[in-house]
Amino acid sequence: MNTPIRLPEGKLGVLTVGLGAVATTLIAGVFAIRKGMEKPIGSWSQLGTIRLGKRTENRNPLVKDFVPLNDLDKIVFGAWDIFNENAYESALHAGVLKRHKHLDPLRKELEAVKPMKAVFSSSYVKKLNGTHVKTGGTKYDQAMELMDDIRSFRETSGCDRCVMIWCASTEVYLEPSDVHQSLDKFEQAMKENDPSIAPSMIYAWAALKSGVPFANGAPNLTCDIPALEELALVMNVPIAGKDFKTGQTLMKTIIAPGLKARALGVRGWFSTNILGNRDGEVLDDPDSFKTKEVSKLSVLDNILEPDKHPVLYKDLYHKVRINYYPPHGDNKESWDNIDITGWMGYQMQIKINFLCRDSILAAPVVLDLALFLDLAQRAGMSGIQEWLSFYFKSPHAAKGLPPQHDIFKQLMKLENTLRHLQGEDLITHLGLDYYQEFIEA
Ligand SMILES: NC(=O)c1ccc[n+]([C@@H]2O[C@H](COP(=O)([O-])OP(=O)(O)OC[C@H]3O[C@@H](n4cnc5c(N)ncnc54)[C@H](O)[C@@H]3O)[C@@H](O)[C@H]2O)c1
Repeated sequence: MNTPIRLPEGKLGVLTVGLGAVATTLIAGVFAIRKGMEKPIGSWSQLGTIRLGKRTENRNPLVKDFVPLNDLDKIVFGAWDIFNENAYESALHAGVLKRHKHLDPLRKELEAVKPMKAVFSSSYVKKLNGTHVKTGGTKYDQAMELMDDIRSFRETSGCDRCVMIWCASTEVYLEPSDVHQSLDKFEQAMKENDPSIAPSMIYAWAALKSGVPFANGAPNLTCDIPALEELALVMNVPIAGKDFKTGQTLMKTIIAPGLKARALGVRGWFSTNILGNRDGEVLDDPDSFKTKEVSKLSVLDNILEPDKHPVLYKDLYHKVRINYYPPHGDNKESWDNIDITGWMGYQMQIKINFLCRDSILAAPVVLDLALFLDLAQRAGMSGIQEWLSFYFKSPHAAKGLPPQHDIFKQLMKLENTLRHLQGEDLITHLGLDYYQEFIEA
């Protein structure tokens, strides 16, 4: 099937909830790329290529030349935050990018990105208290204010389409409850200020109601509930989530499929992180950490499937720790100790010490998600976009469908979705036909 995709005419508005380390690193990066100061390293949509047809055809265009993505020159940024700092001030505060090399040359553009007042309650993010917040009214009224914000952003920035991405702090752990089960119940609960409706859900509802695709970069429940999945379908809007896949989990989903592919056993996987940014401070609260822990823990079970491979993974002990350590700032350090088992039960160990920069890994993920969600909407795709699992620690999948964590399968799904959208043959990597042709010849 060849789905007609509307071309990306005009400007795309990228609205981030939260104007902290990740969001400002994204925004400064896009400005720097536009000025020719930097290249979009880490962005598959910008630097990746995609093979089309047979290997012998030698057709490998850049992804951005293959599907009609919005041009980076035609993006405008908007944001909400609980602190009234513009993107320049906030980026200085986050300390990810070098002031003289990257922030001062972009100062004017960054200062122009000013946050709108946030929907926030410290009941959901206990370590923060901001003043730049919407007050009064019910949760439903606040959602209406967000819709007004989106409308006026569209007018003032002159953008034609928008996407919204949650780049705000991790909220406390919430289980899906009765009010999340249908749109009617959800909207009633917003009017009654039900505590099961977290701020992130209010943003997501406002986005979908405004016809704006929504992605969730944190592990909060947010869109992962029947009510918002229903709204996405009713409004014909794509959604994706959750929790950007960067750092340690990125490594895990690269290494675990490799070990499994060679039928090597894993007895234990101990993962610890130290980080000192605001995200780390928020995650120091046990309730926010619980949300993150659930997201990080699901990965190995899904990839290794101990129930199907009891000899190799039945007794797997998996532990994840995050410790707030201010001296490291955004330069997160993670340690993994992996106890693996080989032939005749002999034990081996792998140690990984990843000295990463959290927001440097996350920014291109946000960019790709913004561009692909916009593409999905122009292609008429709505509801859960499982093909974007590649970018998430805890991929949002349809109810009853196990999510796909293996990064190589995720990449294949992403590539095949783009081929499908453009009416190209899907690639299975079978390759027998090359040899059949040879034998027949
Ligand atoms: N950096 C990574 O590699 C990575 C990976 C996966 C997930 N994440 C998630 O992305 C999110 C952002 O990370 P960060 O490092 O930029 O954190 P950060 O603390 O620097 O930025 C988050 C911003 O969100 C604001 N905020 C909090 N609640 C808000 C609300 N209700 N409305 C509007 N703004 C609100 C905060 O004031 C802060 O400025 C976090 O939830 C983090 O867990 C980051």
